[in-house]
Amino acid sequence: MKTAKHFFSLEGIDGSGKSTHIEKLANALEAEGYSVVRLREPGGAKISERIREILLDASFKGVMADKTELLLYNAARAQVIAEIIQPALDAGKIVIADRFAWSTFAYQGYARGLGADMVQRLTELTCDGCFPELTVVLDLTVEQSRARTAKRGGAPRTAKRGGAPDRLEQEKADFFERVRQGYLAAARDYPDCVAAIDVDRPFEEVSADLIKLVKSRL
Ligand code: TMP
Repeated sequence: MKTAKHFFSLEGIDGSGKSTHIEKLANALEAEGYSVVRLREPGGAKISERIREILLDASFKGVMADKTELLLYNAARAQVIAEIIQPALDAGKIVIADRFAWSTFAYQGYARGLGADMVQRLTELTCDGCFPELTVVLDLTVEQSRARTAKRGGAPRTAKRGGAPDRLEQEKADFFERVRQGYLAAARDYPDCVAAIDVDRPFEEVSADLIKLVKSRL
């Protein structure tokens, strides 16, 4: 077994194919002898999954304050770092997260308008240096996102979860446009650790680019 202490995350709005790409990427790394831990955020640990339920509960739409949302995402993250991510890195494993702090930057900082400064201060407190060395944003337009999620059955992610749209999924197109702009700003302003790739291409082509990007850091 190869040991490699590396932390990567994937980001993108709904329909970008994050989970399928993560699976393909993780399998490719495991085939080369690496030990890979995959997780999703918010979630990945029991307490974080419970916080996720509160965050995505559609009945809290219009009730949850923006700062509560920001703090809960960070609380979920603090737990998964302590319980899963840091121990995995210490054991020489590769961690691949489906979303991490750049989601907070894009969704709470940009789309909710809380601002990059507030998000950054909190991220420093939460992550305390435990941060992905490379984040890949799977970029697509909001129209493409809607078209892709409609194909898999109605509202975003509905078919996957087998239920009604969650609290975040109920946001309007302009919210997701701001999320996308947040991601693109991150890629522009932090090119050393955030890369955006266009996913409006054949899956295999995108996957090959992603695997190449990640392997260039090993
Ligand atoms: P998902 O894992 O099914 O994509 O659901 C997570 C939702 O939470 C998604 O709408 C993005 C949102 N989110 C934030 O708003 N901020 C965050 O920091 C994270 C990790 C996710």
